[in-house]
Amino acid sequence: MRLFALLLLSLIATSAAALDEHSYARYDRVRVRELYLDLDADFAQKQLAGFAELVLDWRDANARTLDLDTRDLTIERVAFADGQGGWHAARHALAARDPALGSKLTITLPRQAPRVRIWYRTSPQASGLQWLDAAQTQGKRHPFMFSQSQSIHARSWVPLQDTPAVRFTYRARIGAPAALRVVMSADNDPKATGAGGWRFTMPQKIPSYLLAIAVGNLEFRPLGKRTGVYAEPERIVAAAKELTDTEQMVDAAEALYGPYRWGRYDILVLPPSFPFGGMENPRITFATPTIIAGDKSLVSLIAHELAHSWSGNLVTNAAWKHFWLNEGFTNYVENRIVESLFGREMAQMQLVIDQTGLFESLRELAPGDQWLVPEIGAHRDPDEIFSDVPYVKGAWLLRTLEKRVGREAFDPFLRGWFDAHAFQSVTTDDFLDYLRKHLLDKHPDAISKAELHAWLFEPGVPKDALLAHSASFAAVDTARDRWLAGEIEADAIGAKGWVTQEWLHFLDELPATTTAAQLGELDSVWKLNATGNSEIALRWFRAGIRAGYQPIRVPLRAYLIEIGRRKLVVPLYEELAKKPADKQWALAVYAEARPGYHPVTQHTVDQKLGLAK
Ligand code: BES
Ligand code: ZN
Repeated sequence: MRLFALLLLSLIATSAAALDEHSYARYDRVRVRELYLDLDADFAQKQLAGFAELVLDWRDANARTLDLDTRDLTIERVAFADGQGGWHAARHALAARDPALGSKLTITLPRQAPRVRIWYRTSPQASGLQWLDAAQTQGKRHPFMFSQSQSIHARSWVPLQDTPAVRFTYRARIGAPAALRVVMSADNDPKATGAGGWRFTMPQKIPSYLLAIAVGNLEFRPLGKRTGVYAEPERIVAAAKELTDTEQMVDAAEALYGPYRWGRYDILVLPPSFPFGGMENPRITFATPTIIAGDKSLVSLIAHELAHSWSGNLVTNAAWKHFWLNEGFTNYVENRIVESLFGREMAQMQLVIDQTGLFESLRELAPGDQWLVPEIGAHRDPDEIFSDVPYVKGAWLLRTLEKRVGREAFDPFLRGWFDAHAFQSVTTDDFLDYLRKHLLDKHPDAISKAELHAWLFEPGVPKDALLAHSASFAAVDTARDRWLAGEIEADAIGAKGWVTQEWLHFLDELPATTTAAQLGELDSVWKLNATGNSEIALRWFRAGIRAGYQPIRVPLRAYLIEIGRRKLVVPLYEELAKKPADKQWALAVYAEARPGYHPVTQHTVDQKLGLAK
């Protein structure tokens, strides 16, 4: 009897533990299968208001409650369908707000209703939306709004089971001011006019973090037969010019991993406050305008977001601790697409840049956060442990396997993984099972248990991990060393023919001892203070802060005020925070910049500058 009770207890414990710790959803009992959104975008109030209808799949005969995730939503009323065309008020309770997870909304039903409807309003501070004034756009005439749902921000604009373990299809009707266009992660139609509301259908099942919406003065340009770009009219020409390789990228990815399964692939170029480089919203990647360098040198970001159409959107991490299954796989696939479009040397250069970045971040990360599969814990927002580890270490593990078994074996294996788990959510254990059955069976010596364990559950990178090597970078290293040693002048470093990646590497490896005078020399020959390339500027400014090279201050200030992309501004504030005088200056610039930043960026910079409450 006692044994039985123990067994039962441990069963209950494992089933709860198998659920996503960052969601209140009990999807072992009931799952959302379809979503219908009927919302109006109100720019004066900075809110979305209307209702969400959820179609339910009941999985447990005894279940009568539906627990949803919400954050800062005002719930107006809730109704359930009786299945005979009638709707009835439903009992519901909104729990106290948890700082990491938001508020659980519990709907208690008299029976297992097929549908529920929730009428609600979002908060102007919704963590997943940014409402921009006209002044923050390029055209300066119309306001703009966009969502960023990953990781757990969909709950701030839709009450739902906000976990990547649950997938659903959706439809929507969105009302918006007449001058503006609405796009969603769905079947956007460039010819739609929005008369009577903008209507969308997403027929493929997606997890909640891929729900996306943007509203603004948008124009469309086709790029290829199934690709195109949306941007403000003032940016559309530059955007379309920069992104002409997009259709070819889709072809290259298909050649490697099978058909693109989402219909169209469009890109939305957002205003500069977009907090990320890119977001893989299905059918419409959201991208920062900082990738528009004028010479296509930063378009590997599109390869990355496109790659998610296989790794992430098709085969999805079932919880955020398995994030490397999204980003490590995507970083690997991105590099393969880059290699097939731009050649092996370009791909190698990017690998070296990634590895340099990884080693730098490993120096700062707690050992547990260096695991590929970290224990996040429900009290921590998954965004807080975001780092290079899942991306670069994850891809590095895959590349290790690729090297050991050869591409003839590894490419079909990876394609098989995507096919076998298409439109499903997966864990690291699922991957390990698949790896054993479909790769290690024929190549048992490819990797040992101990080595796999080291990659997944130990800090750092295994000692014998193969470092990437680039011949062009070896030449850059030599030039840098000779210049620093005073053997050659700045104009003799040979940078005339350098591509962006060579500059990134040159600047990444400038030693801390580089002086302001040396940076001055470099600047007078190579005009780095005037670079229009956001990635070069990031590294140049960081070197300038370290060396106390004052002429960077004017362009640096403009950069920090204009751009809200987290990866580009946070390292600069971090560098500035190291010396008291620089920190004073940073605080003054931030006071001006902060209102224009997205909540995600504000949150991180607040922490780095010691302003967090
Ligand atoms: N899915 C990520 C962005 C993300 C991750 C948003 C976690 C919120 C939480 C996207 O695919 C991504 O990785 N973007 C990178 C660019 C990429 C080239 C490494 C970025 O935004 O910098
Ligand atoms: Zn990604």
